Amino acid sequence: MRIVSTVDEVRSQVKAWRKEGKSVGLVPTMGYLHEGHESLIRKAVAENDEVVVSIFVNPMQFGPTEDLASYPRDLEADSKLCESAGAALIFHPEPEEMYQEGFCSFVDMNGLTNALCGLSRPVHFRGVCTVVNKLFNIVMPDKAYFGEKDAQQLAVIRRMVKDLNMDITIVGCPIIREEDGLAKSSRNTYLSPESRQNAVILSKSIFLGKKLIEDGERNPEVVKKAMRELIMTKPGMDIDYVEIVDNNTMQSIDVIAGDILCAIAVRVSGEARLIDNFMLSV
Ligand code: PAF
Repeated sequence: MRIVSTVDEVRSQVKAWRKEGKSVGLVPTMGYLHEGHESLIRKAVAENDEVVVSIFVNPMQFGPTEDLASYPRDLEADSKLCESAGAALIFHPEPEEMYQEGFCSFVDMNGLTNALCGLSRPVHFRGVCTVVNKLFNIVMPDKAYFGEKDAQQLAVIRRMVKDLNMDITIVGCPIIREEDGLAKSSRNTYLSPESRQNAVILSKSIFLGKKLIEDGERNPEVVKKAMRELIMTKPGMDIDYVEIVDNNTMQSIDVIAGDILCAIAVRVSGEARLIDNFMLSV
């Protein structure tokens, strides 16, 4: 497995693979990889001849008060995980390689991004769309892999690929959880041991919401209220949102029907803002 830091190095490697008639998969990440990322890489390895993992903490998708500076980084551990999962290339650029002097072009979106995380993170999806677009143009993969934990991001990227006629298949992969249910996230490392214990209430509320709907509840307000109340039984919980939306448009619904996304974002003890969700076809 090679680790490269320039666009030119990625391009010439991918060109060589293409000459051999090989297919290429891309797993875009911000590093500090865990079993969730590993599942994406393993799926990509199973479905493509060669797999590129990008590791880039993208400054453009962080707001001014967010955790860009403290976002965890560990290239050595990441390389080990990528190699053992079967990736062929890590692309690990510096911000200056991705955003050269004078950079002023962006990919932006309306609608899908004006809900859920887009409300409290107004610049986030513009940064995600722009960097993912750049990574697609650099690697030109056949398939790209994203986790369902970032459900809104997945919907946004699917929409971008459709709207802008990108010839790339987007593959969504299921949420991977800790043994107690907490969704795996690089940001879980921000939690103190006590907050980590309390944070399990997020996944418990997700499982509760899912069960209520599976048992027949069709009023989103009833489900959201029950989930909120459960989350608030633990100290230090500051709910950003508990929402049930149409999984294609991200807009709120009055009745639970069709393809729905139930998503939550909660700040835990001021230490980490964590998200979780479930999707259902009702
Ligand atoms: O999901 C992430 O880690 C990031 O948002 C992504 C897709 C790698 C873009 O920076």
